[in-house]
Amino acid sequence: MAPLAGIMNKTATDLHTRLMNRTARIAVVGLGYVGLPLVRALRSAGFPVIGFDLDQSKIDALRGGRSYILHLGADFFSGLAGDDRFTPTCDYTDLATADAILICVPTPLGPHREPDLSYVIGSTQTIAKVLRKGQLVVLESTTYPGTTRDEMKPILDATGLVCGEDYFLAYSPEREDPGSAGRSAAAIPKLVGGIGDVSTDIAMALYTGVVAQTHRVSSAEVAESAKLLENIYRAVNIAMVNELKVVLDAMGIDVWEVIAAASTKPFGFQAFYPGPGLGGHCIPIDPFYLTWKARAAGTNTRFIELAGEINTAMPHYVVERTQSALNDDKRSINGAHILVLGVAYKKNIDDIRESPSAEIVELLLERGAVVSYHDPHIAVYPQMRKHSINLASVTLNAETLRSQNCVLILTDHDAVDYQLVADHARLVVDTRNAMSRTTAAKARVVKS
Ligand SMILES: NC(=O)c1ccc[n+]([C@@H]2O[C@H](COP(=O)([O-])OP(=O)(O)OC[C@H]3O[C@@H](n4cnc5c(N)ncnc54)[C@H](O)[C@@H]3O)[C@@H](O)[C@H]2O)c1
Repeated sequence: MAPLAGIMNKTATDLHTRLMNRTARIAVVGLGYVGLPLVRALRSAGFPVIGFDLDQSKIDALRGGRSYILHLGADFFSGLAGDDRFTPTCDYTDLATADAILICVPTPLGPHREPDLSYVIGSTQTIAKVLRKGQLVVLESTTYPGTTRDEMKPILDATGLVCGEDYFLAYSPEREDPGSAGRSAAAIPKLVGGIGDVSTDIAMALYTGVVAQTHRVSSAEVAESAKLLENIYRAVNIAMVNELKVVLDAMGIDVWEVIAAASTKPFGFQAFYPGPGLGGHCIPIDPFYLTWKARAAGTNTRFIELAGEINTAMPHYVVERTQSALNDDKRSINGAHILVLGVAYKKNIDDIRESPSAEIVELLLERGAVVSYHDPHIAVYPQMRKHSINLASVTLNAETLRSQNCVLILTDHDAVDYQLVADHARLVVDTRNAMSRTTAAKARVVKS
């Protein structure tokens, strides 16, 4: 543990001691894709944990040991249900008993691509109702620089308690990688930046006991900006490789082979892969938090805007490629039977938020295609923010595949038998290079 940077009063010293010896009780607000892995890391570190969510069905599922996030595994949920030091609750007054409250609520975009901080503000207002001397509050949701200081602190200060003396406030972004084995929350280094030195010292005491590595920064704003930099880096590089895909396709060059070749360079290159468009709760959304904040600061974010433009054009590009591949088979897209393979935004997970598959399915339907889908992890298309698709996953077998004019691969789940597709489909449009895993395909494969 690094030396303390701030001068602590008794309230701070007591909380610091409780965090260091793991007797502190920790509350996690928001039990979704980010909150639950954090609960696991906190429990593994030995802390008693309260899990608070407004969604009663999640609390019921946690009490009953029923899974609602596939990639966490059934054992995770049954383990939590049998854990008497984990308390799931919908009752916010339980937060009063916590020594530290960690907020993991959604940060989506509004209808005009402006940050929607209503969940962050709502949960901070809830915490303010129970805030007492000696509590640490940490925001983990992704957001623009200044949120912790300018949006949350005034709400908590209005209780009359003083930040850095009575209560402590920090930002520590979550870096989940859903569905990737070996990357548990505890194994991923964590950034910690507080409102003042004492708040940072106290937040560091918590996370040092929970994750393998912590990195202290000088302010909440630095930690908020670093998280955005990480996601903007991905959005921009994915856009670059998506643009390259379109350019190389036009020249008859396989972008996947080009990326594999460039990846042999042992320095100065990191591989990013093209796809049907951006999906998930982070990469399509978070960069625009900075764009909005930049505008407020009288500047602009041209890289982010351009990357957004290229990435949001990808669903149209995929549909055009599908249409032209069908044309080569002397088939119109109008009336063609198209099986979409994989609708989740990413392989091996059951998360469909912002998935480009929804826009692609809608574009295909608009053009008169007869669309069905198979996704081993998504039985029914859920209602989405911008889309309403009335389809359920069909069985994937030789008969289904033979009845299609085209199979369009949008997500390369490992649970799909691609050799079956190669053996029985006529035409495969592949946006993920999934068919490279097969041998001797009877199907004509078009990369897109
Ligand atoms: N999903 C990821 O892979 C990922 C990775 C890194 C960071 N993030 C960020 O983490 C944050 C949370 O994302 P997520 O994917 O876990 O979202 P999620 O939708 O899976 O979970 C959020 C939970 O918060 C609950 N909630 C909403 N308002 C609440 C309130 N006022 N009080 C209590 N509970 C409330 C919801 O019911 C939901 O269960 C976002 O800012 C996101 O950008 C997500």
